[in-house]
Amino acid sequence: MRKEFLIIVAVILLMIFSISYVYPPFLWSLIIVGPLIILGFWDYFQHKRAVLRNFPIIGHFRYLFEMIRPEINQYFVESNTDGVPFSREQRSVVYQRAKKVLDTLPFGSQMDMYEVGYEWINHSLAPAHVDPKSLRVVIGGSECKKPYSASILNVSAMSFGALSKNAIMALNQGAKMGNFAHNTGEGGFSKYHQMGGDIIWQIGTGYFGCRTEDGGFNPNQFAETSQSEQIKMIEIKLSQGAKPGHGGILPAAKITKEISELRGVPMGEDVNSPPAHREFDTPVGLLEFVRKLRDLSGGKPVGIKLCVGKRREFLAICKAMHETGIMPDFISVDGAEGGTGAAPLEFSNHIGTPLVPALIFVHNALVGYSLRDKIKVISSGKIASGFGIVKQICIGADLCSSARAMMMALGCIQALRCNTNLCPVGVTTQIPNLVAGLVVSDKKVRVAAYHEETVESVSDLIGAMGISHTDDLKPWHLMKRVGPNETKHYGEIFRYLEDGELLSEDLPIDFKRACDAAVTYSFRHINDINV
Ligand SMILES: Cc1cc2nc3c(=O)[nH]c(=O)nc-3n(C[C@H](O)[C@H](O)[C@H](O)COP(=O)(O)O)c2cc1C
Repeated sequence: MRKEFLIIVAVILLMIFSISYVYPPFLWSLIIVGPLIILGFWDYFQHKRAVLRNFPIIGHFRYLFEMIRPEINQYFVESNTDGVPFSREQRSVVYQRAKKVLDTLPFGSQMDMYEVGYEWINHSLAPAHVDPKSLRVVIGGSECKKPYSASILNVSAMSFGALSKNAIMALNQGAKMGNFAHNTGEGGFSKYHQMGGDIIWQIGTGYFGCRTEDGGFNPNQFAETSQSEQIKMIEIKLSQGAKPGHGGILPAAKITKEISELRGVPMGEDVNSPPAHREFDTPVGLLEFVRKLRDLSGGKPVGIKLCVGKRREFLAICKAMHETGIMPDFISVDGAEGGTGAAPLEFSNHIGTPLVPALIFVHNALVGYSLRDKIKVISSGKIASGFGIVKQICIGADLCSSARAMMMALGCIQALRCNTNLCPVGVTTQIPNLVAGLVVSDKKVRVAAYHEETVESVSDLIGAMGISHTDDLKPWHLMKRVGPNETKHYGEIFRYLEDGELLSEDLPIDFKRACDAAVTYSFRHINDINV
C-alpha cells in the first residue's frame, strides 16, 4: 500500500486544487484532508510500526480495534456463559446483587447439564431454614488471645496502589456496613483503609507498612500498627495464585507520590517485591515468624497465604507444625486461576496449582497430620456466587474470600486494563480524573449489598440441602458429571484422608514420596540437603 498511498494522495490533491480553481471555497476541504495527509506521511516515514509504514492512515484502525477488543468481545461476541475470566452470567449476578435489582433467571438454565464437568448439589426433601447471620466462622487457635468471628465471604487481598483510594475506601466502608473483613493486600495499611471496617493486614515480602530502610521487617513498626482495633487478623503472604514465586508487581505508572511514601519505594520505576521472605527460609522459621507476629500483635490470629506448588514443601510446614506445636490460625489457599493487578503471562497461565486440587490437598495434609480442627482454611479463586462458596466449603474450605467479584461490586466492567493505570471505572487506576468516577458513598452500599445477597444465597442453598450451617458441608454433597453417562460426588473423585493418616508408619501411596522427602528444617528435598 505504500505506492498506492502516494498515488491516492497525489490524486486527491490534484482533485482539490482543480475543483478549487473553479470553486475557490472548496480549498477549505484541506482543513480535513490536510491533517490526514500529514498523518499518512508520518506513518509512511516512521520506523517503529510496520503496519503503519505499509498501510498509512488505515493501519490505525488495527490499533483502534485492538484497544476496544475486550469491549467488542463483551458486547457482541461472547455468550452468557463463555466470557473470560468471568462470564457475562457471573458478572451480571454480581452487578444485580450489588444493586439489589432483579437477580432471577428467566426460562431456565442456559448451562449444558450433560457436558462433562457440569456440577451440582443435591437438595433434600426436608429443607431447613438458615439465618444468613449465623454463617460465621471463628478463627483463632490455642495460642491466639483475640479470636475473630469471620463472615464466610470476605474481601481478598488487594493493595492501595493496585486499587485506587476510592476503591479502598468503598471496600472498607462496605465491609463495615456488612460486618465482613477487608484484606489490605501487601501494600500496607493506608489511611484509606481506616474507615472502620474489619481489616486483615497482609504482610508480603516487601514488608510494606512495617519495613526497615533496607527492606527488612521492622518489628517495632509492626507492633505499633497491629495494635489498631480495626486490624483483626494478620496474613503472611507467601505467594498468590496469579504469579506464585514471583513477588508483587506495582507498575511504575501507578506509583504516585503518596504510594511511594507509604511503601518507601522510589517513583518512576516498577516495584517488584522480592519473591521470598527475608525473615525466614525454613518451615520452622516460618512458624517462628507466625508466633512472633502473633506475640507482637498482642495475640491476634495470624495466618499464611499461599498458592500450592511443590507438595513436599507444604507437607514440610505441616510436619513442622506437628513437631513444634506452633501453627498459623488460618491458611488462605489461592488457586492459580486467581486474579492480579499485573503479572507475567507465563506465571498467570502456567505456574501454580488450580484451586480445587490445591484446596483438597491442603485440607488432606492438615487432616493427615491431625491439624485440621486447629486451623481454618480460607479459599479464593474466581468465587463470585453462593454456589461458588458452597462448592469451596464442600471440598475443604471453612470460608472464602473474593477479589475480582468485589471489584465488580465496585463497578469493574472487566475491561482488562488493571496493569495500565487506565481502568475506565476508577477501580485500578491512580489517575485522579478516573478515580473521581468511583463515588465512594454509592459503591460502599453496593459492596455491602453484594456481600449480603451472596451470603443469603448460600443460606438458601444449604437450606435447600437440609443443612443448617456451612460447617456441615461435605465432599459428597457436591456432584460432578465425569463422563457422558457417569456422575460422581467429590468424595468419590478425590481421596479424602482419615484424621492422623500421615502420622502412621504406613503412609498412603499418593503421599509417601512427598512426605518422606519433607523435612522441617529446610524447604529443600531431603536428598538435596547434605549434598
Ligand atoms: C487488582 C488485584 C490486586 C491484588 N493484590 C494482591 C495482593 O496485594 N496480595 C495478594 O496476596 N493477592 C493479591 N491479589 C490476589 C487476590 O487477593 C486473590 O487471591 C485472587 O485474585 C483470587 O481471587 P479472585 O479470583 O476472587 O479474584 C490481587 C488481585 C487483584 C485482582
